[in-house]
Amino acid sequence: MYMHIRPRRNRKNPAIRAMLKETIVTPADLIYPLFVQEGDLDEPLSSMPGCVRWSIEGLVKEAESAHKLGVLAVVVFPAIKEELKTPNSEESYNDDGLIPRVIKRLKQEIPTLQVITDVALDPYNSEGHDGLVMIGASGEVEILNDATIEVLCKQALCHARAGADIVAPSDMMDGRVEAIRKTLDTEGYQNISIMSYTAKYASAFYGPFRGALNSTPKAGDKKTYQMETANSREALHELELDEQEGADFVIVKPAGPYLDIIAMLRENTYLPVVAYQVSGEYLMMKSAVKDGWLDEKSVVIESLTSIKRAGADIILTYFAKDFATWYREGL
Ligand code: PBG
Repeated sequence: MYMHIRPRRNRKNPAIRAMLKETIVTPADLIYPLFVQEGDLDEPLSSMPGCVRWSIEGLVKEAESAHKLGVLAVVVFPAIKEELKTPNSEESYNDDGLIPRVIKRLKQEIPTLQVITDVALDPYNSEGHDGLVMIGASGEVEILNDATIEVLCKQALCHARAGADIVAPSDMMDGRVEAIRKTLDTEGYQNISIMSYTAKYASAFYGPFRGALNSTPKAGDKKTYQMETANSREALHELELDEQEGADFVIVKPAGPYLDIIAMLRENTYLPVVAYQVSGEYLMMKSAVKDGWLDEKSVVIESLTSIKRAGADIILTYFAKDFATWYREGL
């Protein structure tokens, strides 16, 4: 048959395919989320097989081995003891608390590793919400926006004082980026970056993470602050505000089911776009791999490449160290 155009010519051998590859993920694109708890125990997580709730020293070792493989940044999430959780979440800005101690140890042992912290109240809040909660007369749950921001500013400042490189507000309160920027600048921390969760959806894919930290809300859901999963235009509205308020990076979360949002933000900002491949995305792949239905290395590389292809500059993924290991081996 005569055809003068045959696209398969550009796929005919590994060399041509390698020359034409548009999207290449490297360990420098990845941020490694790590969980930490008090004490000496490194506890494997049943809700997230392959992930661990580390002791401080265990976390430092894990971060060090990932950094040696080329991972440049970690984000740390704490499991806080129940007795330290309060309605006003005071533990979130305790300079002697778990996270400030983790930051100090990481910066002391691995100074070139970028340490990112989560700014939100859910690990510290007795109600399990990202903000302060007011319970109404008939039990209705209200999340207090402006009062929460005051606590978030104290939390961000506490992380900056301990030596964090980047603070990442994941709470979705209105106006928090500007307030945190002002607080950090006033206190002399102009160089601390803000990585804002700009388009964080009220997703069911966070279930395994909440299991890992025992941080499921006691009452109500997160739909008055996290975004409606059916919507895309409000992601642009949040983007516009976060840019004006001084965000240095903008995050889309989750990643895989929200590739359209990643692409939309990429087209509408000059800021770096970050995507978070969340716990539910991780668990789906892990479970299918465990049952023998999917090949782990292939699906992980494909999922991360797709997220980058959609427009993400950086990806938060629980597979960061695995990917860096395969990358070192030549993939
Ligand atoms: C809370 C927070 C959550 C995640 C990161 N920070 C959970 C939530 O918003 O309920 C989820 C991450 C994941 O599922 O991997 N501030």
